[in-house]
Amino acid sequence: ATERTLSIIKPDATGRNLTGKINAKFEDAGLRIVAQKRLQLTKAQAGEFYKVHAERPFFDELTTFMASGPVVAQVLEGEGAIAKNREVMGATNPADAESGTIRAEFAESVGENSVHGSDAPDTAKEEIAFFFSELEIVG
Ligand code: CMP
Repeated sequence: ATERTLSIIKPDATGRNLTGKINAKFEDAGLRIVAQKRLQLTKAQAGEFYKVHAERPFFDELTTFMASGPVVAQVLEGEGAIAKNREVMGATNPADAESGTIRAEFAESVGENSVHGSDAPDTAKEEIAFFFSELEIVG
């Protein structure tokens, strides 16, 4: 079925001017960018977005990093978009990511790993609503 997923191009990638190269990977995989905005999160907003990780040892590092520069939040749409996006991103740790994936090509470490993608339909819905109103998503 046609699905939507939330994608974030992270500060390590925007800082290296990789937005276009990453978007090309999504489009080449058949994902459509149906909403997109560039913004800088506050640390509090990053903490709200990643609240499921609040008890993890890397939470402070993660939220500091996500607030350290611009991000590009986007909604990707397509057949099986959630799984397809996870395939295109590659494993969370770039050391484990398959060649050709975004993280294999561009990520610097498990923390500075260039992209985020929703992991399931319920989180996709919640994460899309964190950044976008329905009016801003044009399929
Ligand atoms: P993401 O898909 O955005 O979801 C949670 C993020 O936590 C994950 O990508 C990683 O970037 C980050 N993360 C996971 N493990 C670690 C770690 N050991 N140290 C720092 N960041 C981590």
